[in-house]
Amino acid sequence: MPHITAFARNQWYVAAYRHEVGRELLGRTVLGEPLVFYRAEEDGAAVALADRCVHRRYPLSASGLDGDRIVCGYHGFTYDRTGTCVSVPGQRRVPRTARVASYPVTERDSLVWVWIGDPGLADPDTVPRAPHLDAAGWTTVRGMEPVDADYGLLVDNLLDLSHETYLHGGSIGTPEVAETPITTEVDEGAGIVRVSRRMDDAECPPFYARSTGIEGRITRWQDIEYHAPCLYLLHSRIAPAGVLPGPDGSDPDGFHTEITYAVTPSAEGRVYDFWMVSRDWATGATEVSDYLRDNNHAVVMQDVDALDLLQRTLRSERDGYQELSINIDTGGLAARRILARLAEEGAKPEEGVR
Ligand code: FES
Ligand SMILES: [Fe+2]
Repeated sequence: MPHITAFARNQWYVAAYRHEVGRELLGRTVLGEPLVFYRAEEDGAAVALADRCVHRRYPLSASGLDGDRIVCGYHGFTYDRTGTCVSVPGQRRVPRTARVASYPVTERDSLVWVWIGDPGLADPDTVPRAPHLDAAGWTTVRGMEPVDADYGLLVDNLLDLSHETYLHGGSIGTPEVAETPITTEVDEGAGIVRVSRRMDDAECPPFYARSTGIEGRITRWQDIEYHAPCLYLLHSRIAPAGVLPGPDGSDPDGFHTEITYAVTPSAEGRVYDFWMVSRDWATGATEVSDYLRDNNHAVVMQDVDALDLLQRTLRSERDGYQELSINIDTGGLAARRILARLAEEGAKPEEGVR
């Protein structure tokens, strides 16, 4: 099928929000691997195991916990938190091969990250950070939508915000977004793409006019920082026109909004779209939180519908179709290059391992 982006296996991926992993078993599929998550009573750590019982493949996520052990809901094979089967029904001897894979997990900034590739390479210190999600002085609204599309299409979508003007007109898009040229910086080694669009004198979109109370024209900065493959940060700065930049080129007087996405490939042609909107203004105002949550959810659903449609269209496209790229695609094309390299690096040591 055309347009399927290869998976980069030796990377951290957001599998869930911290609050989703508790004493209820949670099933999520990451890079085609069905996983079950829970939080151990023993030390409060998040656990990730393969979500298929070795006996007859019953999903462990549809089973139950007994302390920190999962008891398969079909015939009772029981697994400890390392994935080792510790008891089976009707006999004392547990077959030596009775175990399910366990996966490295680490929690940072309210996100639960999992590592699917070679566990020996999983270094929690390489998880990219989003401290605003969990820091004092910030409030975050969030959600997650699965999308029936190649994850590369979601990366493309997020790196080119000129689509806001057309797909999200009436909420976050105004003419200036598509009209204003971008600057792009690529750190190939670190796998980071930065795309900036700075609008000095722009219409204030309803998303910000209603939530901040600003009336009239604004300065609007959109500074994207994409840490391939999974974490996308959009540093959004809004202020009445003429206020930004401050004397030292900074943005002390702006409304700081951090828009975070985690792009987690679930299976081929399916991606989890984790979305979060954080702010350091009106942090206690629940009506602002409700407004931003509802509106961002509506914006995300416009993207979901567009990407579902785009994926269906590409599926029926002949092989070898030619895209046409322009300046606005610079960030997206850099991201594709980096993703291809990460996928290739992850493929080699993994061959024949699982
Ligand atoms: S399928 Fe799990 S015990 Fe039989
Ligand atoms: Fe969008």
